[in-house]
Amino acid sequence: PVLVIDFGAQYAQLIARRVREAHVYSEIVPHSITAEQILEKDPKAIILSGGPASVYVEGAPLLDPKIFELDVPILGICYGFQVMAHQLGGVVDKAALGEYGKTEAIIDETEGILSGSPAEQSTWMSHGVAVKEAPEGFSVLAHTEGAPVAAMADEKRGLFGVQWHPEVKHTPLGQDVIENFLHKEAGLGNEWDSSSIIEDQVEKIRQQVGDARVICGLSGGVDSAVAAALVHKAVGDQLTCVFVDHGLLRKGEVEQVKHDFVEATGIKLVTVDASEEFLTALEGVSEPERKRKIIGEKFIRTFEKATRQIVADAAEEGGEIKFLVQGTLYPDVVESGGGDGAANIKSHHNVGGLPDDLQFELVEPLRTLFKDEVRAVGTELGLPEEMVWRQPFPGPGLGIRIVGEITRERLAVLREADAIAREELSKAGLDRDIWQCPVVLLADVHSVGVQGDERTYGSPIVLRPVSSEDAMTADWSRVPYDVLAKISTRITNECREINRVVLDVTSKPPATIEWE
Ligand code: XMP
Repeated sequence: PVLVIDFGAQYAQLIARRVREAHVYSEIVPHSITAEQILEKDPKAIILSGGPASVYVEGAPLLDPKIFELDVPILGICYGFQVMAHQLGGVVDKAALGEYGKTEAIIDETEGILSGSPAEQSTWMSHGVAVKEAPEGFSVLAHTEGAPVAAMADEKRGLFGVQWHPEVKHTPLGQDVIENFLHKEAGLGNEWDSSSIIEDQVEKIRQQVGDARVICGLSGGVDSAVAAALVHKAVGDQLTCVFVDHGLLRKGEVEQVKHDFVEATGIKLVTVDASEEFLTALEGVSEPERKRKIIGEKFIRTFEKATRQIVADAAEEGGEIKFLVQGTLYPDVVESGGGDGAANIKSHHNVGGLPDDLQFELVEPLRTLFKDEVRAVGTELGLPEEMVWRQPFPGPGLGIRIVGEITRERLAVLREADAIAREELSKAGLDRDIWQCPVVLLADVHSVGVQGDERTYGSPIVLRPVSSEDAMTADWSRVPYDVLAKISTRITNECREINRVVLDVTSKPPATIEWE
């Protein structure tokens, strides 16, 4: 792999993704890693990420110096670049001029990692410390007003660095730096794409599972669907999938799982229609956290019951269910490595928390993948396009998009309004610009309207289109007015109970993406 050494901040994940986009496999490791630990991973190249510290401040994170002697090509970025300069004997000090944001870099040598670059390029920087003199053996490749050494290389030792952030989209030619480093300097070919991922994973799953049986919960979302499809490709009918229909899904989603997905994959599927039970349990409940708790618990109990049945059926045939598939993604793995308890803003729910006597070993075929890779794999495996490109959708479903008590009637209205919004956003070609667009029914709010010459007293629908990279932060999407107008007209015409459509123009923070 290519190892991305993480110096804090949030750039390591982005770098790892860019490396994958260059068709090379990457992994993130902490900066406390030793040279020996690195050797065990047998990396073909190393990238040092940016970070918030200053190298000359006491206690600043540095690298095991032996790492620079491993004879593995290294690219330092921002703080990582300064660490390289500092530890190899260059001069790193407070910059005469801090540079934050768009910065013109003068390219002195358009070769090596900067080959193909124009004599000047626009870069994204964020530094108050600068490399004033490169260490011995390095040549200076670029400079800026505030950074006498903005890029450097020691071709002999295979060491490179740039002050700017080539991994962010605000550095238009950034990906070239990463690809030059990987392909030209480290000599790596294009070896990572969806078919190689599938081959790898299928092999790994077969090894892990052997001839035991496997169970998998489907949510209707991309991750569980792709995970299941991969496992199915690897071990066929040893896999049984369980789909709990909690009655809170969107229009068409149940059919998508029960028919389109099964048709595309040939997977054995057990569907449990538990909508009646869920709605009964939710009667009279409008407090968001209580809704989430009830839905989460009921979901686990329902899944557990279905699982027990499958385990019993398997036993009758002399088989044993040993494994449970989970669609854990790489960012979850990296983030949970951090381990500091984030504040409980909302109780997110996912399949998990099964009782002790139902113990399965986990199969996690997406554990090394980013979301875009999961989508590419899903497409390659022939899953339905709507499923592969489905927006993130919360486990508690429409239940947390009805502000107020959940009833069948309200669900029907919201389902219709949501379908209209989705259809119009897709028609306008906005699916891939918008991260997701929750459609929310403010069921207990009433306002006066006039429809067909008559006074109405209906509820509003809120449109919440957001753009985001990872849902941790988000901004409201600037959807064109005529698209909004079309959605509004259609919703008020087609959903009689709705006489007003409003747009949520709040970023996250301060608001969250969902309303509950
Ligand atoms: P918030 O509302 O916290 O949402 O800004 C962030 C992202 O998470 C999704 N979300 C959930 N996903 N189970 C999930 O699997 C949940 O309980 C849940 N609640 C929110 C939300 O749609 C957004 O993408």
